Amino acid sequence: MSLPVSLRDRLRLPLIAAPMFLVSGPALVTAACRAGVVGSFPTANCRTVEELDIWLADMEDDAKRSADAEGRVPAPWCPNLIVHRSNPRVPEDLAAVLRHKAEIVITSVGSPEPVMKPLKDAGCLVLADVASVRHAEKAVAAGVDGLVLLTAGAGGQTGWANPFAFVRAVRAFWDGIVVMAGGMADGHAVAAAQALGCDLAYMGTKFIATRGSVLI
Ligand SMILES: Cc1cc2nc3c(=O)[nH]c(=O)nc-3n(C[C@H](O)[C@H](O)[C@H](O)COP(=O)(O)O)c2cc1C
Repeated sequence: MSLPVSLRDRLRLPLIAAPMFLVSGPALVTAACRAGVVGSFPTANCRTVEELDIWLADMEDDAKRSADAEGRVPAPWCPNLIVHRSNPRVPEDLAAVLRHKAEIVITSVGSPEPVMKPLKDAGCLVLADVASVRHAEKAVAAGVDGLVLLTAGAGGQTGWANPFAFVRAVRAFWDGIVVMAGGMADGHAVAAAQALGCDLAYMGTKFIATRGSVLI
């Protein structure tokens, strides 16, 4: 499965503004979505699930306002669920994400398997971030729609694989959505990712020094 047309048509660039702890909040996410880039944020950036509900409602409202003002549907906002077993908030955050009908969810730091069924039952596109071929195989077996390949240089202390080798190794067994992450900062990098066989690029660090980035 490559990118659904309904998503591709809403993107001005094949890009996800990557989720960043203590960096990505509603201002950055909505600015990205209005610019035609998927805007993502870790649900852990909200101190409580009540705050998460408020953020998600704001993002929904902003998408409606933007569609009304510009006559085109903005790129989707995309919560990132940190699915590691040490995160006690996964069930609550998942419920909030489902309540607000997220179109895309990114899972990270663990197997997406526990959250797959509810997300797929709700029609959500699920991308899982992975840092090795073994983790990619496990995520594919869990039924994800796409893989975010964390490669050498990715901010947030994850990713060590060589991007050329990793993307081609995954493409050898997977024709679903592939997103490349790691040290990407401009259009040359996005074009290179596409040439390698990726559907989307993933940029984190590049968005730190932007007006919407800081959470206070
Ligand atoms: C400050 C910072 C915080 C991050 N926090 C998260 C996070 O909470 N969840 C997550 O899945 N990835 C997180 N990441 C990783 C990014 O989502 C993304 O994989 C990475 O930034 C891509 O590499 P780049 O920074 O070279 O563009 C973080 C990255 C940075 C730089």
